[in-house]
Amino acid sequence: MELFQGFKRTDYCGTFTAVDIDREVSVCGWVQRRRDLGGLIFITVRDRSGIVQCTFDQTYNRDLFDKASKLRSEYVVAVRGTVRSRGSDAINKEMATGEIEILADELRILSESETTPFEIVDGTKANDALKLKYRYLDLRRPEMQRNIELRHRAAQLTRNFFSDEGFYEIETPMLTKSTPEGARDYLVPSRVHPGSFYALPQSPQQYKQILMIAGFDKYMQIVRCFRDEDLRADRQPEFTQIDLEMSFVDTEDILSINERYIQRLFRELLGVEVEVPFIRMPFIEAMERFGSDKPDIRFGMEIKNISDIAGKCGFRVFSSAVEAGGSVRLINAEGAASMTRKEIDSLTEFVKTYGAKGLAWLKLQDGQITSSFSKFLSEEETNAIIERAGAKDGDILFVVADSDDEAVLISLGQLRVEIAKRLDMLRKDDFRFLWVTEFPLFEWSEEENRLVARHHPFTSPMDEDIELFYNDPAKCRAKAYDMVLNGTELGGGSIRICQKEMQNRMFEILGFTQEEAQARFGHLLDAFKYGTPPHGGLAFGFDRIVMLMSGSDSLREVIPFPKVQNASELMTQCPATVDEAQLEELGIAIIKKKKSEDNE
Ligand code: AMO
Ligand code: AMP
Repeated sequence: MELFQGFKRTDYCGTFTAVDIDREVSVCGWVQRRRDLGGLIFITVRDRSGIVQCTFDQTYNRDLFDKASKLRSEYVVAVRGTVRSRGSDAINKEMATGEIEILADELRILSESETTPFEIVDGTKANDALKLKYRYLDLRRPEMQRNIELRHRAAQLTRNFFSDEGFYEIETPMLTKSTPEGARDYLVPSRVHPGSFYALPQSPQQYKQILMIAGFDKYMQIVRCFRDEDLRADRQPEFTQIDLEMSFVDTEDILSINERYIQRLFRELLGVEVEVPFIRMPFIEAMERFGSDKPDIRFGMEIKNISDIAGKCGFRVFSSAVEAGGSVRLINAEGAASMTRKEIDSLTEFVKTYGAKGLAWLKLQDGQITSSFSKFLSEEETNAIIERAGAKDGDILFVVADSDDEAVLISLGQLRVEIAKRLDMLRKDDFRFLWVTEFPLFEWSEEENRLVARHHPFTSPMDEDIELFYNDPAKCRAKAYDMVLNGTELGGGSIRICQKEMQNRMFEILGFTQEEAQARFGHLLDAFKYGTPPHGGLAFGFDRIVMLMSGSDSLREVIPFPKVQNASELMTQCPATVDEAQLEELGIAIIKKKKSEDNE
């Protein structure tokens, strides 16, 4: 191997254009590919900016040519030479630097590489587990390099934007107190206090509220959060929030500053103009029209209620659902009447996973009506349904009936997105934002048999619903809002409760005794006693923002070292066992779980 000492890089590989012709330059990077063409060797050298072709000519420099013939993929090299034009017939339009090449005068081989387990190119066929085990190789792919660069630029812009708006960046602890509500905590044992544990923060929620009480007025932090919950494509056990809190503001102030932030982010990093203000849609409306609290509004196919028509019809599946207090609703998949029985069957299986008991359908094709249910209905009833759906020839309607209205809405909401996916209606570069507002303050937990906070227990009820907060909390709405982009919840927040008395009522509704509330949240309740400004805030999922901006399908594409489905990290292979001595020091003994529990 040769020394790097004395070599001076002049340019990044991906930056050369015809303007550079005749310049003496030097580049460093990894060998993407070597091609031998008789007396010529072409090497493409790659760094984070892109690739450039370096040419070794046997007639020009014999020794250098021989040295270049030893190069293999992923060797690390430094090359000095002169930029020259490729000549019109050799220009590579696929390559950003395709007009030029570097005729090499010096080559240093800085590090060799074994044959990599997969080729370092976008769209490699290697399976995910292999790519994650060798994440440093996967990260060399241009796509990953671009995503990580975008993430960096987004973080910088975020800091600048909020700093310009008068926010302070303030850090909060990673070793914190475990509090109930929310997801499961990651616990950290204390050596100094055997038997006591810290929890890694699920979010800095209580600290940021206390920072408002401490008088900092506007707080922001790009902060890691930890939640021990089941993974999905848009969920990681550790993820990053852009966390914000503001004093002396109302909902509108918080929504508008965040709209302006998003507008600037998309304008400066993607050149996309986002219109503000965003649509504000009450939760109830989002559920009724889209069957989701994070509606994808890139396309229509909205849910329509036909309970009034179907409730009186002869088809028992429909009428009994309405009689039982449920509903019958439909969506119209426009132009999709050519769908086959097999496709309809697979959609039926799909909705069943979301709680629907079946899927009825009606096709309008070539002037004919075919349907799984119209034989049970009068012609007027069928026509009324078609009219309600706004259906025309070529359309197909999908109907779900159930005694549980929520099951109808959710299954149709999911179906609508599934059909849009199958019909290729979802464009990744079409960014449709909205705010979902007026969420219920509570939801019923079957598991715990009590009301739980839908957002978190510090969220204020809506002024209009204060009566309900004291008398019928299940019906009370919250001053809470989510920012939604293309069916993904990008961020959420609320105006907080800022009176001790109201916070106590909140804990009472959640079923905490005074003592329990004091033991868990005493620090916050105490702080409320000493002058609390009205305040509220929001947290964005930073990883999700970058995922959608980069057109990625999974958070894995924008997090350098992500975890997989079972929450392990394949490169370092954690979590892992630790030494007995370490456990002993912490006063911890491992209890072997029974097989059945293991498989939970
Ligand atoms: P919330 O729990 O809604 O609010 O989280 C805010 C945002 O964080 C993102 N997010 C996640 N991203 C990736 N993986 C996860 N497991 C994950 N969980 C959440 C989402 C979400 O919208 N303290 C409150 C905010 C507030 O009230 O100010 C909070 O944490 O994009
Ligand atoms: P059946 O009479 O059971 O063959 O059902 C007739 C049609 O109604 C079939 O297309 C079923 O899939 C559909 N169906 C059954 N239950 C429901 C339901 N709960 N909601 C909507 N359609 C249903």
